[in-house]
Amino acid sequence: MQARVLLVSSEAVPLVKTGGLADVITALAVSLRKLDIDASILMPGYGVAVAHAEADATTAPLQPLALPRDLPGGPARLLRGVMPGTDVPVLLLDTGRFHQRSANPYIDQSGNEFSDNAICFADLAHAAVAICAGETAVPAPHVVHANDWHAGLIPFLLKTAGLNHVASMLTIHNLAFQGNYDWALAGQLGLDRDAQAMSSLEYWGKISFLKAGLQHADCVTTVSKTYAQEILTPRFGYGMEGVLNERRAALRAIPNGIDSKVWNPEADPLLRHSFNVGDMRGKTLSKCDLQDMFGLLPVDPFAPIVGIGSRMSHQKMADVVLQTLPTVLDRHERMQLVVLGCGERSYEEGFLDLACRYPGRVGVHIGYDEERAHALHAGCDMLLHPSRFEPFGLTPLYAMRYGTIPIASRVGGLTDTIADVGMHGPAGRGASGVLFDGETARDMEAAIERAFALHQDAGAWRAMQRNAMHTDFDWQTAAAAYVDAYAAIAATEAKPLFARKAPDARVALEQAA
Ligand code: ADP
Ligand code: GLC
Repeated sequence: MQARVLLVSSEAVPLVKTGGLADVITALAVSLRKLDIDASILMPGYGVAVAHAEADATTAPLQPLALPRDLPGGPARLLRGVMPGTDVPVLLLDTGRFHQRSANPYIDQSGNEFSDNAICFADLAHAAVAICAGETAVPAPHVVHANDWHAGLIPFLLKTAGLNHVASMLTIHNLAFQGNYDWALAGQLGLDRDAQAMSSLEYWGKISFLKAGLQHADCVTTVSKTYAQEILTPRFGYGMEGVLNERRAALRAIPNGIDSKVWNPEADPLLRHSFNVGDMRGKTLSKCDLQDMFGLLPVDPFAPIVGIGSRMSHQKMADVVLQTLPTVLDRHERMQLVVLGCGERSYEEGFLDLACRYPGRVGVHIGYDEERAHALHAGCDMLLHPSRFEPFGLTPLYAMRYGTIPIASRVGGLTDTIADVGMHGPAGRGASGVLFDGETARDMEAAIERAFALHQDAGAWRAMQRNAMHTDFDWQTAAAAYVDAYAAIAATEAKPLFARKAPDARVALEQAA
């Protein structure tokens, strides 16, 4: 028998993606399966997800499976299929509420959170518990792996239902999102249990989905070593530092990986030109393609291009970026800027204004666009990626694969994955980017100036590009660490199924060390 793991997430590529979580879930499931773990994914059956999965169903159409219990939001069913482009089984929770959601799964067209998010994600948790209880045609998993607040109720519901044979893990991808809702909703969310259990969900007078997971999961993980330390402090803990400190013994850091097949300058189907560390001619051509794509003039392979590709949010310091860029653009007349992103409307407008102020020098695309993201990483010289906090930060790693040097904040996963030229001295000795402290325009400007100075030195820049392109964050190491963690929490009878894998996992970890 194989060990079974059910990954529960609100998004997963290629069905639905608003951020790095979606990349991580599918890549992790694929990597676990390579380690002989029977990993599958449970996620909401958003309209777009169902349509996409149906259209891509190469082997068979989606198979409806009954859910014998009604969920808080009403009756529902599961649709079983395969994640397009992988061998990972996927279960889509088909409810009327989820089905209506398309472009953005969390917010409506005016940018407000959907009013029934609490019910929708309570449905997701109750459906996971029904699967764990063996109430559906899907075999119950040995470990249920909940991700972020959307799946946070699962560990609590498992415990209160007495389903102790299924172990639970909660992974924190972003502590800033917590799913805190009015206490009055408890009954509607199917949470009317005993008072003592309920008190463990209480967060400043509200029910917190995330806290439910933090309190009750057998193991809590987060996605980088530095973030695992940071979240124990008030600055980064978003009010959860107390609970996290209490659960310190159950907290592990398992850094993400990246999909080096998808982000590969040598074979990227979304680019016209390929390149590698030994032959960068394709990068120069990709730079011209990018200038063309974003209407930058002149199409000049020697103009330094800075790129920004991320959610336009407070987390990603969009406010400070907008304050800083005019000064930098005025100082460096040859510099060009490419911006790809979407998010808060005021920031989107700020970037569009910047493009109007600097026609031909600033190209902005508001929206979510995979092809442009690849073009940006391939064609830019530098990626500006500031963050007030960053649990992991996949984007700079994608840029680095293409020899694009990140200028990023010294927080969270960015500290662990980018070797700062300031710390490592001359670029030849392992540096792969520029890290900076602080959250002011002056801090950011100084970091950009540092990068521009390095860019003048062709030898140092080339060495940094080589280091960046050689940085290896393969998923197999991360997946092996997860197997190790699953083995530690699995019920006694299930442990051997994982333990059989644990030695491989340790070998992989030792090799990576
Ligand atoms: P976060 O999850 O906090 O947004 P990450 O850097 O870990 O940060 O992951 C972001 C993911 O979303 C990356 O895969 C990045 O390429 C992608 N992304 C963000 N904005 C866009 C966009 N506008 N178009 C295409 N991809 C985007
Ligand atoms: C979150 C974090 C990001 C991380 C991603 C995947 O969205 O903001 O830093 O890389 O999750 O774990």
